[in-house]
Amino acid sequence: MMAGGACAAVHASRRARLTAQMQPGAVAVLSTAPEVIRNGDSDYPYRHDSYFYYLTGFTEPESVLVLVAALGERPARAVLFCREKNIEREIWDGFRYGPEAARSAFGFDEAYPIGELDARMADLLADAPALYYALGHGASLDAQVSGWLKAVRARARTGVSAPSTTHHLLALLDEMRLLKDEHEAALMARAGLISGQAHLRAMRATRPGMFEYEIEAELLHEFRRNGAQFPAYTPIVASGPNACVLHYNANNRRVLDDELVLIDAGCEFDGYAGDITRTYPANGTFSAPQRTLYELVLRAQEAALAAIKPGNPYSAIHDAAVRVLTEGMFDLGLLDRQKAGSLDDAIAARAYTQFYMHGTGHWLGMDVHDVGAYRDVSLAEKPSRSLLAGMALTVEPGIYVRPAEGVPERFWHIGIRIEDDVLVTHDGCRILTASAPKGVAEIETLMQETR
Ligand code: GLY
Ligand code: MN
Ligand code: MN
Repeated sequence: MMAGGACAAVHASRRARLTAQMQPGAVAVLSTAPEVIRNGDSDYPYRHDSYFYYLTGFTEPESVLVLVAALGERPARAVLFCREKNIEREIWDGFRYGPEAARSAFGFDEAYPIGELDARMADLLADAPALYYALGHGASLDAQVSGWLKAVRARARTGVSAPSTTHHLLALLDEMRLLKDEHEAALMARAGLISGQAHLRAMRATRPGMFEYEIEAELLHEFRRNGAQFPAYTPIVASGPNACVLHYNANNRRVLDDELVLIDAGCEFDGYAGDITRTYPANGTFSAPQRTLYELVLRAQEAALAAIKPGNPYSAIHDAAVRVLTEGMFDLGLLDRQKAGSLDDAIAARAYTQFYMHGTGHWLGMDVHDVGAYRDVSLAEKPSRSLLAGMALTVEPGIYVRPAEGVPERFWHIGIRIEDDVLVTHDGCRILTASAPKGVAEIETLMQETR
């Protein structure tokens, strides 16, 4: 993980942008994620809280950030509470910064042991007009906040006043996180590159007869050897009919010769997620029905990508994919023109959802399904929000054909999704995951070379 140094300035500038939006003199409090016990004395791998990391770059558990917004001549302050140095614990669990080293490496104004949080909050909140925190994010945080406010109110007779207003801190941070800065764009490009290389490796390694988990191992190997800390989510390696199960992740079936393999997998690199899906033939050559459906999904993805540019509504991306897919479903006999009516009627009736039942993407960032509103809730009709340069999202149309009456049998059990990660630019978008091949000829050539 990054630590301090040049990155400290990036995190400090995000803190400055946040405090500039707060009421003068107000206080914000943000905790990182707790450690979670798996069983006995073993924890799940630790993952910091994304909001906390966004403002600090600090990845140790048991840490809290307190920000005090500027008031008149008094400048803003950033205060970290973290674990103390502890030689005994460091022998068992590894290095921890301790407040003083964390303060200087990560650029905080002050830092104290986490054990002093409750006692110091009464001072930090004294005379602050407002408190910003993660409203409604758990009874224990609410109880802790109540305790701090009670402690300040108990000092009322000394002339101190407690905050009279609370605000939802995460609403401000969600909007900031939605627009990626240059530092984030670079990390996302790296996460996309490594994730794409992992798909390439998986394609090269695939042979009919392998188990899905053997292919998963190729992905994990490529993530880790490139320094990615974790998969960004549980990888899906779905062969044959498993590709029609959207969240399949048992990854324990043997791949047959004439089947497609759908892989949805991405790594997390320094806190940022890649999220790629590729679908390819296990034996290196698409059958005619597989190829027909694959090319349809690829055309839908191209149409969706073409809809991405600043000023366009977010919903235009899904609309573009749905139009191409529905037209293709008509042409291939998946949907019956007699029953479904015109293309516009079929789209309005959402006839396509029999074969395409998910959205065409989502915001992407530190979280694979990243934060940020999809609609403009300031307007009564809640329109889809407009795209802006710096937003990052996935584009992931698919088609999933389960056996059903009237559905041509040659398409049964075929599931295809093609997913890329993009960053909105001033005139369109930049694909961050181009290292994973997706053209039919490109995939077939690559796979046949390695046979
Ligand atoms: N891998 C999760 C998704 O594509 O949304
Ligand atoms: Mn995905
Ligand atoms: Mn996705």
